[in-house]
Amino acid sequence: MSSARLLPGAPVAEQVLSEVAASVAELRAAGVTPALATVLVGDDDASAGYIRIKSRQAAELGFVSPHVHLAASASQADLHAVLADFNADKTVHGVLVQYPIPGHLDYDRALAELDPDKDVDGMHPVNMGRLALGLPGPLPCTPAGIEALLAFHGVPVAGREVVILGRGATLGRPLAMLLAQKRPTANAAVTVVHTGVADWPRYTRRAEILVAAAGVPGIVRPEHVRPGAVVVGGGVRYEGRRLLPDVDESCAEVAGAITPRVGGVGPTTVAMLFRNAVDAARRQSGLG
Ligand SMILES: NC(=O)c1ccc[n+]([C@@H]2O[C@H](COP(=O)([O-])OP(=O)(O)OC[C@H]3O[C@@H](n4cnc5c(N)ncnc54)[C@H](OP(=O)(O)O)[C@@H]3O)[C@@H](O)[C@H]2O)c1
Repeated sequence: MSSARLLPGAPVAEQVLSEVAASVAELRAAGVTPALATVLVGDDDASAGYIRIKSRQAAELGFVSPHVHLAASASQADLHAVLADFNADKTVHGVLVQYPIPGHLDYDRALAELDPDKDVDGMHPVNMGRLALGLPGPLPCTPAGIEALLAFHGVPVAGREVVILGRGATLGRPLAMLLAQKRPTANAAVTVVHTGVADWPRYTRRAEILVAAAGVPGIVRPEHVRPGAVVVGGGVRYEGRRLLPDVDESCAEVAGAITPRVGGVGPTTVAMLFRNAVDAARRQSGLG
């Protein structure tokens, strides 16, 4: 029997997106049309679907959304040329390169070509540096979404022990930096565990807030969770369209609060992308 309170992402995303829409309207009233450009390389069905959904949502929020679709055979230089054009275009405030890209291309190299101020994923090395230094800039979407999720659901973070399982560049590492910052919705005692810590359950069992960020289906089991703790499932693996979360469902029997198997961290990640885009437009137009 599950006793844990559920922490869904949808109402968090809804609130963030309504703030984004208001901010877009304010920019438009001031004569600025926020533009979020999208780049798709190749013909992967899932990637094309994600870009379609994001473009539709961008339009609903009031963004214009120029789109470039490169053939699967595009070279690294072709991709860099598209990014250079968007970098130079003052009417474009944010650029999203849909991941994954075909295997012969290097995503990280392409990302490094992008103007960091237009990086709506918040993953550019300059933005990671800004995060480390506490400087303003686009934040990595999944970590920012998790902070927003905890704040929305009234989970206190400040002064509490957060343990993150995983130190990956997308999730664990930036989340650790974010939640250790001196702000009311962060300010936590953060511990990061990984494959180098053989007895990682020793740490997760004492966590008041446990974030799974490993990408290993079912790795977090009830015996790894402190009774009453808050459990956030960030890590997932996809097998085809099937989503396999890090957090085993039975953790709900021990946790005090837990993100749902589907519809937890995911919706907040997408919302943060649009927040980054509108914030980029504000900063670039001097209205930030
Ligand atoms: N929900 C969302 O919207 C969303 C968005 C982005 C990412 N994600 C998910 O977040 C997860 C993390 O992504 P990432 O790119 O940050 O990470 P990553 O680079 O895949 O790294 C995974 C981390 O987990 C650790 N780990 C893996 N197996 C382990 C084990 N058996 N015991 C202990 N630690 C283990 C690894 O340790 P080592 O460093 O020692 O190898 C590594 O630090 C992925 O599942 C990804 O799909 C979800």
